[in-house]
Amino acid sequence: MQNRNSIYPDFRILQGDCMERLKEIEDNSIDAIFADPPYFLSNGGISVQSGKQVCVDKGEWDKGGTPEYIYEFNRKWLELCRPKLKDNGTIWISGTHHNIHMVMRCLQELGYKVLNTITWQKTDPPPNLSCKYFNFSTELIIWARKNQKVTHKFNYETMKQLNGGTQMTDVWRIPSVSKWEKTCGKHPTQKPLRLLYRIILACTHEGDTILDPFAGSCTTGIAANLLNRKFIGIDQSEEYLQLGIRRRQEIEDEATADKFRRKMSEINKEDTVLVNHADKQTRLLMIEKGICYLRAGESKGSLQVTPGFERMKYVLLHTNGDECQFFRLDKVGTFQIWSKETLEEHGFTPEHAKYYIVVRFNNIPEPFKHLPQIKQRLNTYRAKIVPLSEFIGIK
Ligand SMILES: C[S@@+](CC[C@H](N)C(=O)[O-])C[C@H]1O[C@@H](n2cnc3c(N)ncnc32)[C@H](O)[C@@H]1O
Repeated sequence: MQNRNSIYPDFRILQGDCMERLKEIEDNSIDAIFADPPYFLSNGGISVQSGKQVCVDKGEWDKGGTPEYIYEFNRKWLELCRPKLKDNGTIWISGTHHNIHMVMRCLQELGYKVLNTITWQKTDPPPNLSCKYFNFSTELIIWARKNQKVTHKFNYETMKQLNGGTQMTDVWRIPSVSKWEKTCGKHPTQKPLRLLYRIILACTHEGDTILDPFAGSCTTGIAANLLNRKFIGIDQSEEYLQLGIRRRQEIEDEATADKFRRKMSEINKEDTVLVNHADKQTRLLMIEKGICYLRAGESKGSLQVTPGFERMKYVLLHTNGDECQFFRLDKVGTFQIWSKETLEEHGFTPEHAKYYIVVRFNNIPEPFKHLPQIKQRLNTYRAKIVPLSEFIGIK
């Protein structure tokens, strides 16, 4: 066992079995733990990567054992972690059905208090080749605190802000790890920086210390250091830790660090679609004129811009869920406020308010492989903003 310690004081690396090396960490010194333990799913299954069929096996360390083995393994490291946390400290553990239920049982047996189970919904899951199951597109992340009674840190307002001004829910739509995160090499189960960014921001403050007992390529450490937090990482693999150190070296360059900070925070910067309902006659006139409108209010001051409006790229027009067509906006996120009279001058017959939001689009329909199912029976000019990735099959 070696101290792979990097030259960076805020990035401490321990190589070896975490069951041993965890014992070296001072008790009550850790503010948060993120753990991405083996899921025990490397059993010869197949998936798709870059259009090619690949084996899902990750390595010897991920080969499935008996349920008893998986239980004992998880219980042991979770037991070793608990005294390391400060009294108000919290722990996050990621997994799938292969391991996460065992983890939950162990947490409860060991006296942790479970706070949330986050569903990480991947916006870009590979297809399921067997066609015998629903496509696996989620991972679960349990968030628990050390103590039943001592309250934990939660940066509620930061999370709300990150979510466009509304309360953050326990379903997180975040893409899988991207190319810009793999410039130093690959780990087979690397987590996206965007996921760790959110976790670390949710439960720690600047200067806090975050521990990862299954650090791999040290994604937790990179996100922690980019957010001015300290990191301690353990992994049994020398090769993965070396990759982690190269990643740490990479962010010494201020321009790269800034780029990563910007990219990590872009979780909610997905393009959006304005889904707009209108009766058939109005929809056809909208298409003819390349104008779509929705109710704004009785005065210009009452206008409320829904989060996501500024990233609106398409409008989808439909009548009672039928005859859906996508159109591209002339300019992303731009709109105007028109009065009822102005709309009437353009041949429309608006009925609901004095002022309307108007977007202009290119009236040639965009080709989509599959049009979405829209269920809307309300005969009003209601609209909603939906992330573009919810519509599969856009060309
Ligand atoms: C799921 S991966 C973690 C990937 C990491 N989150 C990342 O973003 O790169 C699990 C890691 O745990 C390590 N590992 C498995 N069993 C271990 C043990 N008993 N002690 C220390 N590391 C272990 C493996 O080498 C592997 O890198």
